[in-house]
Amino acid sequence: MFHKRVLVTGAGGFIGHHLTSYLVDKGCWVRGVDQKRPEYSGTDAHEFFVMDLRDPTNCIAATEGVDEIYHLAADMGGIGFISSQHATIARNNTLLNIGMLEAARAVGAKRFLYSSSACVYPHHLQTSPDVVPLREEDAWPAQPEEGYGLEKLFAEKLCEYYMEDFGIPVRVVRFHNVYGPLGTYDGGREKAPAAISRKIAMIDDGDEIEIWGDGEQTRSFMYVDDCIEGIYRIMGSDDNKPFNLGTDQLVTINELVDAIAAIAGKRVIKRHNLSQPQGVRGRNSDNNRLRNVLGWEPETSLRQGLSSTYLWIEQQVKAKVPVIEPALAK
Ligand SMILES: NC(=O)c1ccc[n+]([C@@H]2O[C@H](COP(=O)([O-])OP(=O)(O)OC[C@H]3O[C@@H](n4cnc5c(N)ncnc54)[C@H](O)[C@@H]3O)[C@@H](O)[C@H]2O)c1
Repeated sequence: MFHKRVLVTGAGGFIGHHLTSYLVDKGCWVRGVDQKRPEYSGTDAHEFFVMDLRDPTNCIAATEGVDEIYHLAADMGGIGFISSQHATIARNNTLLNIGMLEAARAVGAKRFLYSSSACVYPHHLQTSPDVVPLREEDAWPAQPEEGYGLEKLFAEKLCEYYMEDFGIPVRVVRFHNVYGPLGTYDGGREKAPAAISRKIAMIDDGDEIEIWGDGEQTRSFMYVDDCIEGIYRIMGSDDNKPFNLGTDQLVTINELVDAIAAIAGKRVIKRHNLSQPQGVRGRNSDNNRLRNVLGWEPETSLRQGLSSTYLWIEQQVKAKVPVIEPALAK
């Protein structure tokens, strides 16, 4: 009945949750694993284990009986979180990556996909807002983001070593800023599109919001549906070298704010806070490898993707604000 049995780690998180639904739709039997269940909706997984994958025995239990592993679990967040938690992030992710690769070896997994990040790229190539798009081979010689980026780069190498020494077929995907509905939008781990959407959803027309940095730092942003489609295509491809997965449409954070404000139909005053972290000055994805190997690349426009993201976050924000009845408000 099912053509494949797959494991999605991080299935309680943003991308893993969407990926689970996509794989179920594709006719796979899916086991989701995470230390928490999805926050904003139920899971479509056929089986869901709540467990801590830093424990190697849990990694073995999670991988038993599956053909393919999509390994997305990671301790991660936006720039505020990853620049203040180097030790915790590096420790937690190193433990769960080693545990998952060892488990993949123990059960003889037919394929293992590792979710890496654009944070592996060297700082010195990202010092200007009009950055040259980053090619996959630019990751070495290395000078990655402290903590999170370094740990991702190490895990990429570990995947390569496991493939060379133990024959585990691996796929490595470097995501560039994924956004969309059902992603974390508050609490300190949210990323720029979600944080800005939340701030705009909470203000009245003409009010101000805080922007980290001068807002002239640049990034490219990929809608989650494209991310899922790309993951699936990369898993199915014959190419085992790392892939960028992102758009190559560069925007400044100020432009991102303007785009979301237009969707919200609000005038927004930007108050720039230069003492908050802004990450690298500019980062963009070179999609040549994606185009050449897959004949495909992300296609959702920023406007389209931000509209559904903003509307979902606005709904969440409104649902959280207690409505005070006029009679009780005195
Ligand atoms: N969202 C992005 O823009 C982006 C960019 C680059 C890379 N990535 C990578 O993509 C993957 C998925 O990211 P996401 O945006 O869905 O993040 P997310 O935080 O929503 O999901 C990660 C999930 O991993 C789980 N997890 C963490 N530690 C665990 C542990 N010890 N045991 C079990 N589960 C654990 C978390 O509970 C969470 O649900 C991660 O590996 C992340 O590093 C994401």
